[in-house]
Amino acid sequence: MNKREIKTIFTEYNSLAELSPKQQELIKKAKEAAEKAYAPYSKFRVGAALLLDNGEIIPGNNQENAAYPSGLCAERVAIFYANSKYPDAAIKAIAVTAYTDNGFIKEPIPPCGSCLQVMLESENRSNQPIQVILYGEDKITEADSIKHFLPLSFNKEMLK
Ligand code: THU
Repeated sequence: MNKREIKTIFTEYNSLAELSPKQQELIKKAKEAAEKAYAPYSKFRVGAALLLDNGEIIPGNNQENAAYPSGLCAERVAIFYANSKYPDAAIKAIAVTAYTDNGFIKEPIPPCGSCLQVMLESENRSNQPIQVILYGEDKITEADSIKHFLPLSFNKEMLK
């Protein structure tokens, strides 16, 4: 028997000022996107913003539906749009936050498993890590690759 341990590494910040101007801009775009989300059922409005290697910033927000499973998370709305418009652009970074009836979330939220899997596909597609910036008003979490969230992941190598 072999017991294995996997470490994950991320950074926590207590204020926006600790981040670079580009990271701050990405968070601002994610916040703006959150305010425009269509989330009448959960009232949990998620906003995402991607920084592409061509310099474009692509926002996305969650789109809910009365038939609940037909909705889509903010991260995947942004990623699928970016991939459809700029199929050759790599995603360098993603910022995510959420807005509720009490304002912006205090603690950052990690993306759901399906969004992580889609982000991992983007990392593997471009062969470049995606920086993940999760914004909460009291704390900002940053990780340098999706692999820190999905250390044991299913990918195309396993289809061979
Ligand atoms: N949601 C996202 O947009 N991103 C996530 O990573 C987690 C959840 C959305 C889906 C749904 O519209 C609402 O948040 C509540 O789950």
